Amino acid sequence: MNAAADAAWWQRGVIYQIYPRSFQDSNGSGVGDLAGIERRLDYLRDLGVDALWLSPIFTSPMADFGYDVADYCAIDPLFGNLAAFDRLLAAAHRRGLKLLLDFVPNHSSDQHPWFVESRSSRDNPKRDWYIWRDAAPGGGPPNNWISDFGGSAWQWDGVTGQYYLHAFLPEQPDLNWRNPGVRAAMMDVLRFWLDRGVDGFRVDVLWHIVKADGMPDNPVNDGWRRGDNERDRVHQVHSTDQPEAHAIAAEMRAMADQYGAQTGRERVLIGEIYLPFDRLSRWYGTPDRPGVHLPFNFALALSRWDADGVGRLIAEYEASLPAWGWPNWVLSNHDVPRIAARLGDRQARVAAMLLLTLRGTPTLYYGDELAIGEVAIPPDRVRDPREARQPGIGLGRDPSRTPMAWDASPNAGFSSAEPWLPLHPDWRDRNVAAQSGNPASMLSLHRQLLVLRRREEALTLGALELLDAPQGVVAFARTGDGRRVTVMLNLTSRDVSLDWTGQPLLSTHGECAQRGVLRADEGLIVA
Ligand code: NOJ
Repeated sequence: MNAAADAAWWQRGVIYQIYPRSFQDSNGSGVGDLAGIERRLDYLRDLGVDALWLSPIFTSPMADFGYDVADYCAIDPLFGNLAAFDRLLAAAHRRGLKLLLDFVPNHSSDQHPWFVESRSSRDNPKRDWYIWRDAAPGGGPPNNWISDFGGSAWQWDGVTGQYYLHAFLPEQPDLNWRNPGVRAAMMDVLRFWLDRGVDGFRVDVLWHIVKADGMPDNPVNDGWRRGDNERDRVHQVHSTDQPEAHAIAAEMRAMADQYGAQTGRERVLIGEIYLPFDRLSRWYGTPDRPGVHLPFNFALALSRWDADGVGRLIAEYEASLPAWGWPNWVLSNHDVPRIAARLGDRQARVAAMLLLTLRGTPTLYYGDELAIGEVAIPPDRVRDPREARQPGIGLGRDPSRTPMAWDASPNAGFSSAEPWLPLHPDWRDRNVAAQSGNPASMLSLHRQLLVLRRREEALTLGALELLDAPQGVVAFARTGDGRRVTVMLNLTSRDVSLDWTGQPLLSTHGECAQRGVLRADEGLIVA
């Protein structure tokens, strides 16, 4: 599997996540759309990424900005229509770019016709497509499960006198994947898009899709304190990561593989799964019954940024992988703080070097290549329902979803209208046009890293060996194709003595590396 000749595009490639609302508006709505993305494909090709993953673009009332789907096989008019989608897909393919969609199987919108039917009466044929339960014997919700967005995960429905389950918003009722009709209908959705030619899917909250039989109470988390995320009041033992969900992942994988075999174009499945490594690795399945190709590894996005911790998590992740499991890495996405907001400009450069030199498929979040940092969202512009449900405790995701900045023209070239979320404060300088012409910019660093990663087979596919390094430094070697490439990352803001050897290939500081030292906030690649 690791041999260069056998490597698949998703192993060699770099994935770029687009939040479609915020990439490029083409029609003056203040919200990005598919025609806008199409306009920017040359930028993405020139950046040097291989595949684009689009957060949901399907018909939706937008209670959770598209993660509440009302029609899985149609494009929301805000983004365009199927013709615009087909044009985008063809234009991406012409440029050698793959396109991945966001499949949201755990829940639909409460406006989806399936749910409208399901809630209409207790004996409707679609009743069992969702998860309905009577109130607990003494009244109140059937169990203690908590929505990821806060509050009970159960919503009372007066019309039929039962509760329904929603792991997220009440507007996002959970589908019942134990019902064969649901399974078949959702597999048809995958077929619909695979037939259109998409190269795969990122699968939303895959570890949530099956709940324990009987749905017992989740164990209470004694460590929970007021002001913590309400979701964490209980451990999600019975509401997530059930064995039956692995069988569903395997079924999806079998379909993706079948399309790959029939068309000679391999399709990839990436599972959104927030679990510790030992449980995450099980989502690769087994060689006989593979699960998803890439269970997302969010460790870098969630862990403290210090050399000991980062070194340890690399070692632990590598050790957790089954022999057939290909690694992957994520620094940030639309649900967590941006990397430059967490680390600042200088360490964000070190982080970019880490992301793009580790072993495995990196997913790069749009705007991180400019190091978009903190964006304060004024109270009257908050849009994220997670912030609205638990205000003021730092759960808001709007700051990570602000518009891409293309140039210094009005609204940063994103839109002719006021964007749906504010731009970052320094957008007049921090934009694609300004950074393109500057060899020292974050954008140029990304381009250089992506060129190097492609050129050096050792970085694309080679083995990884962690090296002993002074305090504050993460160092590793990548070997392959007769080359040994060494990556050294100073995670501190002071110079560290380090007797490195070899020829410098790239430093985050641009100008020539200095022998005997790794400078403050420097990342250095040598060979
Ligand atoms: C995970 C998505 O990434 C997030 O944005 C969304 O709110 C939840 N799933 C619910 O679909």
